[in-house]
Amino acid sequence: MLEDIKEEIGKLRSEAQKEFETVKNEKELEALRIKYFGRKGLFSQIISKIETLEASERPEAGFLINTLKNEIMELFQLRKEKLTAESQAEGRSLDLTLPGRRREYGSLHPVTLILDQILSIFTDLGFEVIESREVETEYYNFEALNTPKDHPARDMHNTFYITDEILLRTHTSPVQIRVMEKSRPPIRMVSPGKCYRRDASDASHSPVFHQLEGLLVDEDISFADLKGVLSSFLMQLFGKDTVVRFNPSYFQFTEPSTEVAIQCKMCRGKGCRICGNGYLEILGAGMVHPEVFRAVKYDPKKYTGFAFGMGVERIAMLKYNIDDIRLFFENDIRFLRQF
Ligand code: DAH
Repeated sequence: MLEDIKEEIGKLRSEAQKEFETVKNEKELEALRIKYFGRKGLFSQIISKIETLEASERPEAGFLINTLKNEIMELFQLRKEKLTAESQAEGRSLDLTLPGRRREYGSLHPVTLILDQILSIFTDLGFEVIESREVETEYYNFEALNTPKDHPARDMHNTFYITDEILLRTHTSPVQIRVMEKSRPPIRMVSPGKCYRRDASDASHSPVFHQLEGLLVDEDISFADLKGVLSSFLMQLFGKDTVVRFNPSYFQFTEPSTEVAIQCKMCRGKGCRICGNGYLEILGAGMVHPEVFRAVKYDPKKYTGFAFGMGVERIAMLKYNIDDIRLFFENDIRFLRQF
């Protein structure tokens, strides 16, 4: 009978309202959901009674049951939202077993690592570390280093000019001039920094690279001091068994000049794929040219000294077996992580 079902619907409504409003936690709420909406739940039961009605009564009964079902569904939803909000506020939904987020560690760039080693060797030998500018004038970069305007050696430096007078330094040698202008001997300094050259980049050339300059000036400094200091440096950097060779060379700002090489450890000087002729050139050096002393108003009869310059990437490439200078500047994390 329709009347019976209507009565049942009324009862179900008031019971459900009470029950859903007093439910205390999500577990109880789930039990209640099954009680009402489960396969054998109260709704299935009441729906199955529709069949017992006259055909003419069925639509009304169906409509009333559906309406109630929607009402109770809404009660369920509201309650569920409230309970979740409450338990979140109490922190119960925090999963304390969840592992923490890992921090990414950075690492020092290979150029920095090598520079740290080089600087610590020179500071142990009593050298002071001085940093200078990257934007220079052509006076400091060339003129004061005994390389006048029409000198062919300027060609080799492929300079980035900003104006006719201002440029990006092509080497760290201008620091020699700046230091000597400001102070009197004794001078023992090294100066690391970036240099720039208008070179097309390939495996051994980069338009930006690092050099380390060194300068020692005092009375009675001889070529033997140069050999002693640089041999000691190279043996500390590359190992006690390193064989060092001083080959004659030419630089405008030193006289005599030398190119310092170490014997290749792969072939022990015989010549191989790595070194070519058995030796690897590491740095340029020489006795400070009297013209350079004159430019900074030092008396070349009173003072002598030696200077040296080396490419930092080149040394890092030899030490870490890196075969392409461009890797230092690409910042590929897979490369950088290896050091
Ligand atoms: N400045 C030179 C270059 O870039 C390197 C160099 C050679 C520096 C000899 C020196 C030196 O101080 O004495 O090729």
